[in-house]
Amino acid sequence: MAKAKRMMQEDMKKVDLCIELLDARVPISSRNPDIDMLSRGKYRLILLNKADLADDTRTKEWIEVFKGQGIRALALDARLNARLSVIRKAMEDACAEKRAKDAARGISQRPIRAMVCGIPNVGKSTFINSLAGKASLKTGNKPGVTKANQWITVSNGVQLLDTPGVLWPKFEDPHVGLNLAFIGSINEDILPKEELAYEFVKMCSERGLTGSLEKRFDLELQGVSDPNEIIDLIGQKRNCMKKGGETDLLKTSVMILEDFKAGRLGRISLE
Ligand code: G4P
Repeated sequence: MAKAKRMMQEDMKKVDLCIELLDARVPISSRNPDIDMLSRGKYRLILLNKADLADDTRTKEWIEVFKGQGIRALALDARLNARLSVIRKAMEDACAEKRAKDAARGISQRPIRAMVCGIPNVGKSTFINSLAGKASLKTGNKPGVTKANQWITVSNGVQLLDTPGVLWPKFEDPHVGLNLAFIGSINEDILPKEELAYEFVKMCSERGLTGSLEKRFDLELQGVSDPNEIIDLIGQKRNCMKKGGETDLLKTSVMILEDFKAGRLGRISLE
């Protein structure tokens, strides 16, 4: 962990812009607070990735929250090319001030250099590959430039470091740990699957999100708020039964968790 952080610190020295990928479903839990320190003095851009799995209204609210903190933020589905031109423009815009300063001082325009960072599984490689797929002109393939530090030209004036900065999530807060386990960003084995599904269904129940479960599993849950009861009903509905006729809790739990991760419960934001 310390080594990854040190490497990131070194890489950060080479760039003007830090692009931070967060999971749009959990923008707080998927944010490593060290990033503020690591990116001090750099231009910032936040990409709320996996926005296709998150509730649009929440994502828009988060964009405003970050804007209020002076950080430009955009929603993204890193697997698609559709918004890449918007992202490229945002990368340039985020550094417009530097461009203007350089120009005023008569410094010829050199490309803005950026790096992507974020916690594991948030979509960093997917994003870099999407950008590189369109415009992968690697300029680092020269003597003296290590292969690990190649620059991808993503637009006229922007280059991207092809190695993302990996930040480990911080989950001293049990809610953060649970959120990260729900989205599959940390090893779900922090808790047995049955307990994890219990916590997930409990959260759905407390937040008025059981409509998603009703829809997915064709259930009527009005008046039912006990997570165990809901899981039992889902198991019965899906025929996840053990030989003796009781609900197979493990099988049902895995199904619920996998359905959420894959977006089959609909677009749900947990924060
Ligand atoms: P990382 O480099 O930050 O560790 O993440 P990576 O790009 O490897 O992406 C992790 C998983 O998330 C991949 O799925 C990838 O396809 C998926 N992913 C990335 N961006 C998006 C997005 O915007 N929307 C959705 N829905 N998925 C996205 P995978 O290879 O199937 O891995 P896994 O999900 O089985 O772990």
